[in-house]
Amino acid sequence: MSTNTTDNARKVTTRRLVEMKQRGEKISMLTAYDYSSAKIIDGAGIDVILVGDSASNVMAGNVTTLPITLDQMIYHAKSVMKGTSRALVVVDLPFGSYQGNSKEALASAIRIMKESHAEAVKMEGGAEIRESIERILSAGIPVMGHLGLTPQSINKFGTYNVRARQKEEAEKLIADAKMLDEIGCFGIVLEKIPAELAAEVSRQITIPTIGIGAGPGTDGQVLVMHDMLGINQGFSPRFLRRYADLASIMHDAVGHYIEDVKSGDFPSSIEESY
Ligand code: KIV
Repeated sequence: MSTNTTDNARKVTTRRLVEMKQRGEKISMLTAYDYSSAKIIDGAGIDVILVGDSASNVMAGNVTTLPITLDQMIYHAKSVMKGTSRALVVVDLPFGSYQGNSKEALASAIRIMKESHAEAVKMEGGAEIRESIERILSAGIPVMGHLGLTPQSINKFGTYNVRARQKEEAEKLIADAKMLDEIGCFGIVLEKIPAELAAEVSRQITIPTIGIGAGPGTDGQVLVMHDMLGINQGFSPRFLRRYADLASIMHDAVGHYIEDVKSGDFPSSIEESY
């Protein structure tokens, strides 16, 4: 397996992700929405950066992903692209920009690619949005699918519970995953489905699966950066592993700064003044 420094420094492409699946190398993916965090996670060696519509929640404070607009996604994607040199950058097509009409879907995807210079788009859904996906693919724009829990359909589901526990829904998910593979998507996010089903889908298709709450049998994993760094503290589903407690670190640092300002300790008259 080639994991030397040169290979690690090489730009990640959609083709390289498929090669990683073929040789059994797991794919790492995280969200980012701004220049500074994209620069940090790209420098740390993340394979894929997702400019997720979860920006609606963690950046804008909305309860769902539905309110975020195409213009706002493009703004986030442009900022992320400026901080990224190695990772593949994938951008969510937001709710309302692709579901109803495949021509509008293509126009939305083209705006993302032209205005942000990102490298791929992600779309939630299977057979019901096939025409939109095919039209976007036919324009040479790489598409990542997203099956299982699809947060843009929260008003249809009614809950954020695990999806596809029942046979019928699991069978539809497998059929959708095969269809996305056959029409030319380069990967699929599998969100909050039973681990056994996710592993089975991953075995049955040729393109990589990236899981979130889908167990260890997928070809890669994705988390929302604000959740895994502990910036967003109010969200603790079972699938989330926290790698830091940045909210506490920021809270303490700001408290310390306030004390220093109030006491006159900051700034010092020599080292921190001109
Ligand atoms: O928007 C997002 O962050 C996502 C991930 C949860 C996969 O779609």
